[in-house]
Amino acid sequence: MPELPSWMLVVSLFAQTEEAAAVDTVPVETHPLINLAYLLAAVLFIFTFKFLSHPRTATRGNILGVLGMLIAVGATLAMPGIINTGYITIAIGLGLGAAIGAGLALKIEMTAMPQMVGLLNGFGGGASFLVAGANLHENLKASDASLLTPWNQSILATGLSGLIGGVTLAGSLIAFAKLQEIQAFRKPISFPAHQAFNAILALLALICVLGLGANPSWFVLYWALILLAGILGIMLTLPIGGADMPVVICLLNSYSGLAAAATGFVLRNNALVISGSLVGASGLILTKIMCKAMNRSLPNVLFGVMAADDGGASADDVYEGKVKSAGPEELAMIFDGARRVVVVPGYGMAVAQAQHAVRDLMNLLESRDAEVLFGIHPVAGRMPGHMNVLLAEAEIPYEKMIEMDAINPTFPETDIVLVIGANDVVNPVARTDPKSPIAGMPILEVDKARNVIVVKRSLSPGFAGIPNPLFAADNTLMYFGDGKKAILDLVSAIKES
Ligand code: TAP
Repeated sequence: MPELPSWMLVVSLFAQTEEAAAVDTVPVETHPLINLAYLLAAVLFIFTFKFLSHPRTATRGNILGVLGMLIAVGATLAMPGIINTGYITIAIGLGLGAAIGAGLALKIEMTAMPQMVGLLNGFGGGASFLVAGANLHENLKASDASLLTPWNQSILATGLSGLIGGVTLAGSLIAFAKLQEIQAFRKPISFPAHQAFNAILALLALICVLGLGANPSWFVLYWALILLAGILGIMLTLPIGGADMPVVICLLNSYSGLAAAATGFVLRNNALVISGSLVGASGLILTKIMCKAMNRSLPNVLFGVMAADDGGASADDVYEGKVKSAGPEELAMIFDGARRVVVVPGYGMAVAQAQHAVRDLMNLLESRDAEVLFGIHPVAGRMPGHMNVLLAEAEIPYEKMIEMDAINPTFPETDIVLVIGANDVVNPVARTDPKSPIAGMPILEVDKARNVIVVKRSLSPGFAGIPNPLFAADNTLMYFGDGKKAILDLVSAIKES
């Protein structure tokens, strides 16, 4: 998934503010022109997804998405009845939301974008259940019996919005804490009978939805539902870590869309139903792709509680006396005879912003008749497509970015693999230790190359928090330093050699 540019983040916050602002003036009958505008917005959203599916067309996709969102927001503001609420209230909401969104989007570091997107997913879920709850409150205040008949569409959609929105908000906050690498949340957290506890929570939440359906005037059940859904969201996300986080991020993204779609049914707002369904469906497709890439099944991710600490080999056991390191001059000599080089980027390349230096290295090696390719792991970095976006930003051709399944068989014929800021995605423990947090995750099998050079600042672990025997392998040389400076020094050393 390409990174969202700042202005798109602003618009998405904008849209959520609009959603919140539309609460108590929902006309059941909508003017045909407004429905036409919604249809146009929906068509634009569909083309947005089509164009976002390739980096070359992603910018066009983003622009169409913004246009669709503007049309949807504009049409909603033009609805008869909105004016009764007062544009001032809406303007205050829009102004506040847009200011906070713009502030965050402009200030946020590129490497913190995954957390930011995770948080926005959560806010989407929160906005959805608040709007649905406010609508129910209005209906109760109006005491209109037709809106409060048992099992009507609106009350069932309200229950679903509360359930999915609550899980999304609380789950996304925990996912944010994990991506932010807040110490207390880094490792999977679980306790005995965790799954049984989750099952009871889910059952109680379902009882609340049914109770609300049977008697829409039991408003207290709605808040009980939100509370239970929130605890469920926390409990579902706490035990997840390591290789499974990317799957959860995609799933929460999908949930935020489903919660919005449910709220669309509450408000009878076609634009919200369509855009929520598109987000829900695309999130589910991405979840499935991620599961396949990670060799996991969805039930295994959601219900296969991990051991918090499996007592695997300590860093001392893995590294002591076995790690060899080298400086740029020694490495330049190895590059001298290399014909085929594969660069494997990871999260550290994003932190160091080393992509332009890597491009310079590629140009230099190619000018000396070496073939240079890039091995891309599906979850390298912190969001889907993270590495592709960074490399594309440095104008590295897409044809050189080779996916894991295609590049893996070629490593035995590769003279040098240059691992830059990657750790978990090249950790052979995934193949050998069934108890490790990355067990079963397919990795880039760089250990099979003739020479492996790893650029990172220290022997610190990656996201999964485990040592990496690759760093102590016979064919590996560690090149310690910040990714960007290390590559620039290597380029100078190769030029001088
Ligand atoms: P990681 O395993 O997180 O390792 C990154 C490495 O980069 C660290 O070991 C760090 O070592 C190094 N680093 C940090 N800053 C650096 C700098 N300035 N210069 C050089 N090196 C630097 O990264 P990965 O291999 O890309 O794996 C991704 C992990 O994130 C997987 O576990 C994946 O499951 C998880 N995850 C992915 C996603 C998605 S969707 N992609 C979402 C959530 C989680 P030093 O500190 O020693 O430098």
